Amino acid sequence: MEIKKVGVLGCGLMGSGIAQVCAMAGFDVTVLEVEQKFLDKGFAGIEKSLGKLAERPPEKGGITAQQKNEIRARLRGTTDVHNLAHCDIVIEAVIENIAEKKKIYALIEGVVKKQAIFASNTSSISITELMTATKRPERFVGLHFFNPVPLMKLVEVVRTIATADDVYETAYEFGKKLSKVPVRTSDKTGFVVNRLLVPYLLDAIRAYEEGVGSIEDIDNAMKLGCGYPMGPFTLLDFVGLDTTYYITHVMYDEFKERRFASPPLLKRLVMAGWYGRKSGKGFYDYSDPNKPVANKL
Ligand code: CAA
Repeated sequence: MEIKKVGVLGCGLMGSGIAQVCAMAGFDVTVLEVEQKFLDKGFAGIEKSLGKLAERPPEKGGITAQQKNEIRARLRGTTDVHNLAHCDIVIEAVIENIAEKKKIYALIEGVVKKQAIFASNTSSISITELMTATKRPERFVGLHFFNPVPLMKLVEVVRTIATADDVYETAYEFGKKLSKVPVRTSDKTGFVVNRLLVPYLLDAIRAYEEGVGSIEDIDNAMKLGCGYPMGPFTLLDFVGLDTTYYITHVMYDEFKERRFASPPLLKRLVMAGWYGRKSGKGFYDYSDPNKPVANKL
């Protein structure tokens, strides 16, 4: 089947990024949100990102002013689920909460045409469990993108035991059309990236708790010693400590292994509402976003 029209559920950080890359790849995109104010916020983020891309030369992924206008014209926001009826694929990127996700799949099931593929951008929830909220388990996949979506080249394409072969291949090819590099993975919690990334990030917190080094020194060690673009604490604040904490629960629940268990400090930061960059405070203080200062924890 050919994908022409894309629906995106949720216009947060991930949803707006996914909508942007789909529009950049030439697809018509409709983004659903519960309230106009969330659409406005997400579209402002898209505008900012397109602005940055317009400043780059074409050989570095830059776009022209005309391309920017064309991308904008392919994107529209809506609060009416009926506007998703004719989509060929719907990618869900709502809050990482099973009940909320299942609720929205139940809502769109009766509206979106039967041949459409449903995909979830979840980073940790079982695709198999989400698929049970729909009447199209064979047409259900995971498409897991990475933050910031316009820059990160990877998409994990996740299949369940029920996913039809042609649906999976269509989703895989769709990933390529978005100028991403798709990797094939099965529905095991965390897929490839979080399976390896989450224990690393949690170990960095444990190392700090055990006095191995300061926040800045551990960050610098991994940046300069291993060539990582961000050290673990900068990345934790970037991903969101609440999000990471949620993921650790799902992963620990699945595997019952200590490497996926949340260290006490992560729990304390989340209880205090220090979620990282988005709340202005996490391992670092972002009072001046250009000059984060490590907190004394
Ligand atoms: N859209 C467009 N352009 C953007 C952008 C965006 N959203 N964000 C940054 N840029 C541009 C900047 O304008 C800058 O452009 P120029 O080179 O033309 O000046 C360029 O990208 C680099 O940005 P910065 O100089 O601000 O910072 P940087 O060099 O550190 O790069 C980064 C930023 C690409 C995010 C890099 O730090 C990085 O790769 N970090 C790691 C991110 C990562 O690991 N993400 C995965 C998180 S895990 C996840 O998402 C999944 C999950 O399930 C939890």
